Amino acid sequence: VLGIFDSGFGGLSVLRAIRKALPEHDMMYLGDSARTPYGTRSREIVTRYTKECCLYLFERGCHLIVLACNTASAETLRELQQRWLPALRKNANFESQSAKNIIGVIRPIEEEAVLQTKNNVIGVVGTRSTVQSQAYVEELTALNPDVTVVQQACPLLVPLVEEGWERKPETRMILRKYLQPLKTRNPDLLILACTHYEALHKVFQQKMGSRCMVFHSPPILAKKLVQYLQHHPEYDKHIPRRGRTVFLTTGDTERFSEIGERFYGKIVDTVENVEVENVFPCQNI
Ligand code: DGL
Repeated sequence: VLGIFDSGFGGLSVLRAIRKALPEHDMMYLGDSARTPYGTRSREIVTRYTKECCLYLFERGCHLIVLACNTASAETLRELQQRWLPALRKNANFESQSAKNIIGVIRPIEEEAVLQTKNNVIGVVGTRSTVQSQAYVEELTALNPDVTVVQQACPLLVPLVEEGWERKPETRMILRKYLQPLKTRNPDLLILACTHYEALHKVFQQKMGSRCMVFHSPPILAKKLVQYLQHHPEYDKHIPRRGRTVFLTTGDTERFSEIGERFYGKIVDTVENVEVENVFPCQNI
């Protein structure tokens, strides 16, 4: 099964695009809504939460997990891939015979961004953690040293989107304030480096003006995932093709269905409430 993980609802916009690109693959979405937001927490906490959620998804039969959450990708992916997964694979309790992996969302977006920018100035908006981690700055400039990255943390946006305030004048005003310093640097491309911001794409585009393209991240991620699966046929036999989607949340299931629908674009039904703490004895690795 293909696992999609996010700190809450935002990743459902990524699931939506992936589902469109891969209509038959069985998928399991886990939103850690009980502990959202991640974007204001320390790296240590985000890492612990992300590990717990990934372990849970592995235990439920996922073989490949997409960290749809930018905050989790920025803060934890390196640790997860380079240290945690190899240690986990050595643990006797972890079924290590078959391919199991975790992939993030930052690299695929960046690859597309360096291809598309013409003036080599790329804007990045995200949570405070994502911006402070410098993950986008480091990796974008590694891909192309001529690129200048201008970042802006927008910590007020996640709660506004969660409350459904996308169209309110207050939200537009806050967005204008956030984007003012960024606009003066004239990026020709803006990356919405937070799953929630996709709901504000239209407003971002209006505020940035026509000389700046605001990326739609979900379809780019879906396209890159299809390519990844083509290059990794070892996952084929572990991802059944019955078109099933299972929705899991650590929070309230009714709220998940209600708000989730806005991100997923379709009814989010039969949501299961799960506990992800202490799933597995090798938690402390
Ligand atoms: N999903 C997170 C991201 O993409 C944002 C929400 C949060 O702060 O938990 O960065």
